[in-house]
Amino acid sequence: MANSNAGILGTGRAYPEGVLTNADLEKMVDTSDEWITSRTGIKQRHRAADNEYTSQFAVAAARQAVERARLDPSDIDLLICATVTPDQILPSTGCLVQAELGAHRAAAFDIVAACSGFLYGLTIANQMIRSGQARYAIVVGAELLTRYVDYTDRGTCVIFGDGAGAALLGPVDAGRGILASQIRSDGRYAEQLFSPGGGTRLPPTAETIASGMHFYKMRGNELFKVAVRSMTDISREVLEDAGYGTPDVRLFIPHQANQRITDAVAEKLNVDPSRVYSNIEMHGNTSSASIPIALDECLEQGRVREGDLVLLASFGGGATWGAVALKW
Ligand code: ACO
Repeated sequence: MANSNAGILGTGRAYPEGVLTNADLEKMVDTSDEWITSRTGIKQRHRAADNEYTSQFAVAAARQAVERARLDPSDIDLLICATVTPDQILPSTGCLVQAELGAHRAAAFDIVAACSGFLYGLTIANQMIRSGQARYAIVVGAELLTRYVDYTDRGTCVIFGDGAGAALLGPVDAGRGILASQIRSDGRYAEQLFSPGGGTRLPPTAETIASGMHFYKMRGNELFKVAVRSMTDISREVLEDAGYGTPDVRLFIPHQANQRITDAVAEKLNVDPSRVYSNIEMHGNTSSASIPIALDECLEQGRVREGDLVLLASFGGGATWGAVALKW
């Protein structure tokens, strides 16, 4: 069945019950609800308990996506898990999810592309389905970012939250599904958002742990400008590739990095605010999980109808960025 378009047949989401509010953070670092709300749009974020781990939420989200697509886990040929907060270095979280889900026939692997991981995954899954190598693929974005957040660094700890989202992809009729996608990177921005310790360059030692080298470090202000520019440019490119323009977009779901980034990108693209989805107030920035969580919420709220043009765009550490245009 080569050259079929790939479309999203089902979605799911899951997150920890635990919540960290701005009021909670006011007690932990020198910040205020007013600062966090006006600079980011965030009011609360989910935070996993000590005994919870990434694949649990990935499996829960994936299970929902499979059920809503009315498929069985054994139908899945490919499982991609986008995460920068894996259960462990080896094996991949994808393999752990594959086993727990019961996707016995699926090839499974992880993608490390930070907040763009889900769109990287959609792009790969789309090509595998279009080429005929896979019929059904599941892409999961799953993160427990609060594990890597330094709760003495007010510049990062107010931003990040935990959660997972998933999308089950399969063949759809011509003219529907993923119409165009683009993914890019620029490693020269590596040190604008990174975790220096724990790998082969700086293996874990008592000193690296004591000096906080395993936590995420971010130069948020510098990333902000690159994020707005990259997401705007790549969104225009995919719409052009798909044969559409921004007035045709019924729903724009950007990565939920910061409300000000979302507003700036939507304004530059000239997409009406009523067509832009935001849930950052409730979830914070959940990196690779943010777009699939948002998509699942939009479907639940009836914000996506058959025939709608949906634009997804992301920017993340790496730096990485991407955009996907879909006809529902
Ligand atoms: N509470 C109070 N004050 C704060 C806080 C805080 N939580 N954090 C920073 N400040 C202070 C700073 O110390 C600084 O004070 P100074 O002027 O006295 O030096 C001032 O506020 C301004 O700091 P900026 O960093 O310039 O603040 P900015 O408006 O840029 O907001 C933020 C910071 C929210 C991090 C923003 O830059 C941002 O969202 N950047 C983009 C992040 C991003 O897109 N990352 C990539 C995707 S995420 C991923 O890949 C996992």
